[in-house]
Amino acid sequence: MVVRAGAYDDELVKTAKTIASPGRGILAMDESNATCGKRLASIGLEKHRSQPPGLPDPPCHRTGLGTVHLRCYPLRGELYHSTVDGVRMVDILTEHKIVPGIKVDKGLVPSAGSNNESWCQGLDGLASREAAYYQQGARFAEWRTVVSIPNGPSELLRSFSTVSMASTGSFQVAQKVWAENFFYMAENNVMFEGILLKPSMVTPGAECKDRATPEQVSDYTLKLLHRRIPPAVPGIMFLSGGQSEVEATQNLNAMNQGPNPWHVSFSYARALQNTCLKTWGGQPENVKAAQDALLLRAKANSLAQLGKYTS
Ligand code: 13P
Repeated sequence: MVVRAGAYDDELVKTAKTIASPGRGILAMDESNATCGKRLASIGLEKHRSQPPGLPDPPCHRTGLGTVHLRCYPLRGELYHSTVDGVRMVDILTEHKIVPGIKVDKGLVPSAGSNNESWCQGLDGLASREAAYYQQGARFAEWRTVVSIPNGPSELLRSFSTVSMASTGSFQVAQKVWAENFFYMAENNVMFEGILLKPSMVTPGAECKDRATPEQVSDYTLKLLHRRIPPAVPGIMFLSGGQSEVEATQNLNAMNQGPNPWHVSFSYARALQNTCLKTWGGQPENVKAAQDALLLRAKANSLAQLGKYTS
């Protein structure tokens, strides 16, 4: 099928605006099969057997998450799955006015010639895969890659010979990365009104002993975003990046204490799912309590998006 250039522009912009509307955020549950296995192992469970290559991932705990109300929801193989009652996951989500999305990168692979860094694959055949996902009901796509600090980005290591303070390193690297990203997106005529950005917050590194306050995280992160992200982008949807559930909510809340040119919200995986997963523990009788735990975090982050969260 030949698709006219721009045929989906209006729909894409509308979808981005819907997701980036007051109090709304994203439940990121698009972990790879391997990461899903790690999450389940943390509560003493094994993931379902792997499918043969080329077939969608098998259903796992995420089916249970899908019935909780959120605005939008990037998936992996669940796009093709049904609940035990035979209802398609995408139909449940759409019925609840949740926008189903799909992760389209194919994960990280080692990057040759780099400083032990990785890059993600999946550009080959992307257009036809996306067309098939659209037919299945997906209305947005997520592409994610990782920039490692202090290993990379390689060219940066030459100019930043000492990355001593983790937060400074994170700020400087992010400035460089977003400048280049937006330069190349502009060169490639990416329609900024149709994208949502999913960055990490500027926080001290995981091994840094000094923790930052929500105000410090907010100051550094907003400074970075104001310097680099055009206001045409409708939403900034942060990942939680290993912050605790409450920390991630407090940091988001701090960033919404004043007006921003973009919707500043969440696309959290761990900071929405951790308690939910532990509460569930693989036991059918815990599903309702687990969903309530997820709802609690979703509501807290919805308030934080409005700048109204109080712990
Ligand atoms: P975390 O919120 O757990 O960092 O994950 C977000 C993410 O990138 C999943 O797509």
